[in-house]
Amino acid sequence: MTDRLIIRRPDDWHLHFRDGDVMRGVVPYTSRQFARAIVMPNLTPPVTTAALAADYRDRILAAVPDGIDFSPLMTCYLTDTTDADDLARGAAEGVFTAAKLYPANATTNSAHGVSDVEKIYPVLARMEAEGIVLCVHGEVTDGDIDVFDREAEFIERHMRAIVSNFPKLKVVFEHITTADAAEFVAECGEAVAATITPQHLHINRNAMLVGGIQPHNYCLPVAKRETHRLALRKAATSGSSKFFLGTDSAPHLRSAKETSCGCAGIFNAPFALESYLTVFDEEDALDRFEAFASLNGPAFYGLPVNEEMITLERVEVAVPATLPLAGEEIVPWHGGQKLGWRIAD
Ligand code: NCD
Ligand code: ZN
Repeated sequence: MTDRLIIRRPDDWHLHFRDGDVMRGVVPYTSRQFARAIVMPNLTPPVTTAALAADYRDRILAAVPDGIDFSPLMTCYLTDTTDADDLARGAAEGVFTAAKLYPANATTNSAHGVSDVEKIYPVLARMEAEGIVLCVHGEVTDGDIDVFDREAEFIERHMRAIVSNFPKLKVVFEHITTADAAEFVAECGEAVAATITPQHLHINRNAMLVGGIQPHNYCLPVAKRETHRLALRKAATSGSSKFFLGTDSAPHLRSAKETSCGCAGIFNAPFALESYLTVFDEEDALDRFEAFASLNGPAFYGLPVNEEMITLERVEVAVPATLPLAGEEIVPWHGGQKLGWRIAD
């Protein structure tokens, strides 16, 4: 049995840091685990320009603990009125690593998102020409589409069209939750990849709804049926370079989760690697973990892999039921449970 794993330091290809006190509280959890992270731009107001992204990056860097090497990779929040010149300039200057498509009102702080994907086709054409990665929240928002069908419907209505109209555009189908999305990505060409969160590898929709409503298992896209969870585990551990790590860690204070209208988002940053590793261990795929966590993402983004190595060891860790954050409390993913792996010091 493998009890120790030495791998290149991983990166997180989809993450929410927020801003202010919450950001300062959560950055150290991520920088302990990851060398780089694709930082989501859904702040209030959203990060829509290179100038806003450069300032946000400075605020994040100021929150990284001394002696820790961590690089935030910034994203541009696409809107109906995105300035393609500003985006291209920001990418050329190294401020933007990617741009993010939120269909308007699909998730937390997405009210300024894109009202109709075709409206941003000129921006997508420019991104394709400049080699800027498109990160997609792939859910339709129409009231008549069942929440459990919104990802599969997005593939039919938008993803196929984006991929065929812009064949060279690099597209990350983010936080995929269905067998449909895993299959779609696997069948696309090299320009299309996907991130997978730890929660969608661990839970199906029962975890949200059985034994009372479980707000800490609620995120968007929502967890689906067991068949989908199994398909995601298969994709993540398949060895395909199209699938890589993106936690979608989305901190919301306990008071905002445990309320009559709770926020979507799971805060998994503190024990993300331990959580993923438990899955790879259960699937007998520890030998494929480094590719998923540390190699496939940089290869897709055209970035170098990290030189530093980390050691993971089979030692039980207890995840605290709550953590202090910004003068309040937050419930981490797996709070109150035990996981079988830890990062060695
Ligand atoms: C994210 C958030 O809270 O910002 N929430 C979530 O449930 N994943 C937004 C997102 O990625 O959809
Ligand atoms: Zn997210």
